[in-house]
Amino acid sequence: MGKFITFEGGDGSGKTTQLLRTVDWLKSQGQDVLQTFEPGDSPLGKEIRPLLLSGEHVPVPAAELLLFLADRAQHVETVIKPALETGKWVVCDRYTDSTLAYQLAGRALQDTPQLRDMLKWAECGCEPDVTIWLDLSVEDAAIRMASRQAGGEAANRLDEEKTSFHQAVYQAFDSIQKDNSQRVKRIDARQSIEDVQADIQAVLQNL
Ligand SMILES: Nc1ncnc2c1ncn2[C@@H]1O[C@H](COP(=O)(O)OP(=O)(O)OP(=O)(O)O)[C@@H](O)[C@H]1O
Ligand SMILES: [Mg+2]
Repeated sequence: MGKFITFEGGDGSGKTTQLLRTVDWLKSQGQDVLQTFEPGDSPLGKEIRPLLLSGEHVPVPAAELLLFLADRAQHVETVIKPALETGKWVVCDRYTDSTLAYQLAGRALQDTPQLRDMLKWAECGCEPDVTIWLDLSVEDAAIRMASRQAGGEAANRLDEEKTSFHQAVYQAFDSIQKDNSQRVKRIDARQSIEDVQADIQAVLQNL
């Protein structure tokens, strides 16, 4: 079995930047790596992603949560598990912790044991071996997002939520890390791209 690594954090915290570098590094170490993301990295997921992010429809919180979970179950069973079973390391941009942070905390859905069970169930048995949480304040992330959008990249429906939403998301990631400190590693994302990457490699070296 390969290892399953997820990257988590708010919008603009550097997940994609660091994931790409991490994948290159793992490959240079001789690992067979699958790079993937949520939502939308399966043929069915490609259809689900625009429903969630385009802004054409605004799902109610329960519908939003269920669409994310539908995408996840499909992704795990058809993409992640088959790769892990052939010994690949799977590196995924967002996973269940994002769902907890955005679709529960961000939407102020009541966090019940039943919902927690449903999130677990949608993972189809695939819990990450390690989660990298890129810890960046909402204020610092907003500065990066502004410069990225000035560079021409369009914002999606969730990027455009108000500051209180992003604060709730941040607080949720902070609690998730404290409650799961074995699995979730906090990385100081204010550092330079190179220093953040060095911290990530130090964590993954232990795998
Ligand atoms: N350590 C860093 N220092 C300064 N700028 C950075 C750093 N890491 C990333 N950036 C820049 O910040 C912006 C956001 O980074 P990136 O797209 O990797 O974040 P993300 O977490 O993947 O965002 P999203 O959740 O929207 O996908 C990009 O313009 C990127 O070049
Ligand atoms: Mg990204």
